Amino acid sequence: MNFDDRIKEEVFWINQCIQNQLPKESGFQKRIIESMNYSVEAGGKRIRPMLILESFRLCGGQDERIIEPFLAALECIHTYSLVHDDLPAMDNDDYRRGKLTTHKKFGEDFGILAGDGLLNYAYELMLNAMMHCDDSEDIKRFAMASSIIAKKAGIYGMVGGQTLDVWLTDKPMNEQELDFIFRLKTGALIEAAFMSGAALAGANQETISKMEEIGHLVGFAFQIQDDILDVTSSLEVLGKPVLSDEKNHKTTYVSLYGMERAKRDVKDMSEKAIELIKQVGDHPFLLELVQKLVNREK
Ligand code: IPE
Ligand code: IPE
Ligand code: MG
Ligand code: MG
Ligand code: MG
Repeated sequence: MNFDDRIKEEVFWINQCIQNQLPKESGFQKRIIESMNYSVEAGGKRIRPMLILESFRLCGGQDERIIEPFLAALECIHTYSLVHDDLPAMDNDDYRRGKLTTHKKFGEDFGILAGDGLLNYAYELMLNAMMHCDDSEDIKRFAMASSIIAKKAGIYGMVGGQTLDVWLTDKPMNEQELDFIFRLKTGALIEAAFMSGAALAGANQETISKMEEIGHLVGFAFQIQDDILDVTSSLEVLGKPVLSDEKNHKTTYVSLYGMERAKRDVKDMSEKAIELIKQVGDHPFLLELVQKLVNREK
């Protein structure tokens, strides 16, 4: 099977896996559940679940059923971060994943609540997996993966990065500050994907640390490419508005270092990541996936 067909097949499997775990739209809280599911089902490239799956395989993981709650949980957390990122108080954007943003469709109150709901639901999925597991080795792996995801989603991860990102909107930003923002707002959840996939496969601490380094490089390159696409792409291709950074007077990798350096750094960082992946194991598909996602058009 060629690379693109394999990607399509994996995204199909991941979507089914997420779909099966989403909450049912019923009860007095039906509207919040509809708004949560709307944002998750709107689509998205499903890069983080794919990276958990492929990191699990890279580290010798066998039974893929055990990772399902973690794939869905990380995608719920990522989706919540997008729903809140698009709110009027943050980037104030109207389109996401080719559809109206959640607050545009359901109102700002439900944009906030959908994000709250998704974040909490992610922990319900991970803790339920732990509670219903009777293998003590698996319970340890589940605890480690959940703890990695929790830390990388929180103030030492994505939320921390978003904090400085909004704080420095409209203000000058230096290289260290941009580095901090990229490492946390985007890098952290990508690090969490590489690390939790490895932890679920039973990898040792040394390997998990290497996966963190790989995730850092891939996540950083991923956000540089996001900044590049914000100026070079279109709403039709991206599924989200372009020139959002300029509208919000944000310093970006492109505005700070220029387009040429931005493109060069995407290439250098992804090449470094690929070298490190090769040190962990032999997994040509993951190498191609990393190349593809940092060079993506959307
Ligand atoms: C968008 O992430 C936000 C960033 C961290 C750059 P993705 O580009 O992975 O968005 P989806 O999930 O495909 O919509
Ligand atoms: C957001 O960065 C990263 C998140 C944690 C959501 P951006 O604000 O650049 O992401 P997009 O371009 O709206 O997807
Ligand atoms: Mg933002
Ligand atoms: Mg944004
Ligand atoms: Mg962006």
